[in-house]
Amino acid sequence: MCVIVTGGAGFIGSNFVLDWLAASDEKVVTLDALTYAGNLENLASLQGDARHVFVAGSIGDGELVARLLDEHQPRAVINFAAESHVDRSIHGPEDFIQTNIVGTFRLLEAVRAYFGKLPADRQAAFRFLHVSTDEVYGSLEKDAPAFNENNRYEPNSPYSASKAASDHLVRAYDHTYGLPVLTTNCSNNYGPYHFPEKLIPLVIHNALAGKSLPIYGDGMQIRDWLYVKDHCAAIRRVLEAGRLGETYNVGGWNEKANIEVVNTLCSILDELSPRQDGESYRTQITYVKDRPGHDRRYAIDASKLERELGWRPLETFETGIRKTVQWYLDNQSWVANVTSGAYREWLGKQYGA
Ligand code: NAD
Ligand code: DAU
Repeated sequence: MCVIVTGGAGFIGSNFVLDWLAASDEKVVTLDALTYAGNLENLASLQGDARHVFVAGSIGDGELVARLLDEHQPRAVINFAAESHVDRSIHGPEDFIQTNIVGTFRLLEAVRAYFGKLPADRQAAFRFLHVSTDEVYGSLEKDAPAFNENNRYEPNSPYSASKAASDHLVRAYDHTYGLPVLTTNCSNNYGPYHFPEKLIPLVIHNALAGKSLPIYGDGMQIRDWLYVKDHCAAIRRVLEAGRLGETYNVGGWNEKANIEVVNTLCSILDELSPRQDGESYRTQITYVKDRPGHDRRYAIDASKLERELGWRPLETFETGIRKTVQWYLDNQSWVANVTSGAYREWLGKQYGA
């Protein structure tokens, strides 16, 4: 038995692969294009482990994907591969269209051909699980109920629009071709191996480096935060028992304004790694120009996943964020390695000097 994980060298994908192999001996084939966000160092602990095969390549390479499917005969494909950063999608949407839409389409085509050749018993067991985002639902008013699976799709950024398109393709491959698909739409993740272009790892990194902590606009935008390992557990559960063709919202029941998240990070850092001058890291907070089209609020109603499959997050925001800060303090060399040349170019483009 074996599963193929695409995008498994990125933030969530690598946590998923590591957690999978910590809990099971079922082989994992990781397919990852190793873009700026993919990092083999995340999977370094699996070096020499016969249960893991790493393949460098794109989900958009139909021939490669077909060859991997034929060779490894997986019982499931779990698709994390994507361009994932909203700000980058605003500066340059093209990669998002190519990977998230065209790439997902090519992947689906290869999987459809493979699935069509399987005997009936293996077809019955096969799953294609597509990992998506709450951003496809758009932005919520302050007091509106959290997103459930029946909310209308209203994506607002090139990133969320490209993810919405990929979700629709996945749905269509079930409806039209009978491909056994599952889709998860998750809120903001945080935890180990989070690339420091995203709010939480960026703030930890900048704080320790004595740099400013950039808050877009008024800092009152709300996100629902979920510890990455809880997301991985939810995906395993949906893969195991989700109803075919269904979508499941995944969230942490942890709505926080950005400024509150940054203040919490500063307080934990003040305690665990105080500044030498005795000042709080809060003094480094700087309000900067807002993100164009910035969604004001996301909130996820994950009650379907709890009701049908018994999943709930294990971490609260307070426990998860403390673990996360400690991980970054303990893994400064990982941060140093990913914040090299190309990363600095991005900071210049996004935040100026
Ligand atoms: P990430 O940017 O950290 O990782 C993406 C990975 O995909 C990288 O390893 C990259 O090299 C790889 N990749 C990119 N293009 C590829 C291609 N054409 N072929 C193969 N691999 C390719 O992203 P992440 O935060 O780990 O997100 C993973 C998935 O989860 C994405 O689909 C994202 O939309 C979704 N998601 C993320 C969050 C979040 O908070 N980070 C929340 C909900 C859903
Ligand atoms: O909601 C799920 C989504 O969460 C995922 O689909 C995306 O892949 C993931 O990147 C994340 O998107 P966000 O745009 O919400 O995450 P980001 O960390 O970029 O920003 C979180 C919030 O913090 C958002 O309101 C923008 C704000 N922000 C971000 C950065 C990088 C700042 O105020 N300052 C910053 O420097």
